[in-house]
Amino acid sequence: MFHYPFDPSSLAETARIWWNLYGYYLLLAIVIGTAVMTLLVAIPLAYRYKPGSHNPNAKDEIKPGEIPSERGRTAGVLLIAVLLLGVFFGLLTQSLEATKEFKKIELNGEIPDDALVIQVIGFQWGWTFRYPNGVETDVLIIPVNRMVVFNVTSEDVFHAFSIQDLRVKIDAIPGKYNIAWTKAYQPGIYRVQCYELCGVGHAEMITKVMVVTEDVFDFWYNSQGATLEEAMEEAAHTEG
Ligand code: CUA
Repeated sequence: MFHYPFDPSSLAETARIWWNLYGYYLLLAIVIGTAVMTLLVAIPLAYRYKPGSHNPNAKDEIKPGEIPSERGRTAGVLLIAVLLLGVFFGLLTQSLEATKEFKKIELNGEIPDDALVIQVIGFQWGWTFRYPNGVETDVLIIPVNRMVVFNVTSEDVFHAFSIQDLRVKIDAIPGKYNIAWTKAYQPGIYRVQCYELCGVGHAEMITKVMVVTEDVFDFWYNSQGATLEEAMEEAAHTEG
């Protein structure tokens, strides 16, 4: 709904979900930030001491026995409070919607038939991706326009699996499987990174995800363990 120059929502469905939500928060932050900064400049200018003028704001003086709400501002304060309540209720609803969408596999309790399910195993310090055909890789290769489900765990300490550009992030906990998913919209190479401090190698716990077309993915997947380059070379020879 909101579009900024660095909008990632064309990269993946998960990016679209979170970016949309982020848009609401960003918009609110801009509105409130602008109001606060404007008042911060305007009020000192309006109420600053002017030589020769005797207490120009005498009417605003606090008088003993009077509380500010008795000075005719109750309606205004109430209006602002109700408005803010409405805005925050809207944010809450939107946040719940986005979370529900991202958690839909757990909430529905079933994985769509055409989804590709990949086991993601974090370790000190790297990632293993295990495909349904038993092939294991250290680089993630996924097809475009297909739901990819990540079944995430760890074999030692706490890690966090994340593809930042596609807005995917989930804890990798030993003895537990956490579900995340994405559906990439276009081919590309993105960074996979650990987002949980997990030891001296944490900062280097990085690999990449290659989002490829369905054809390229099938070539690679059927090659049973070749690298993507080998699979593509093989495919080129077969076709030539
Ligand atoms: Cu694994 Cu940080």
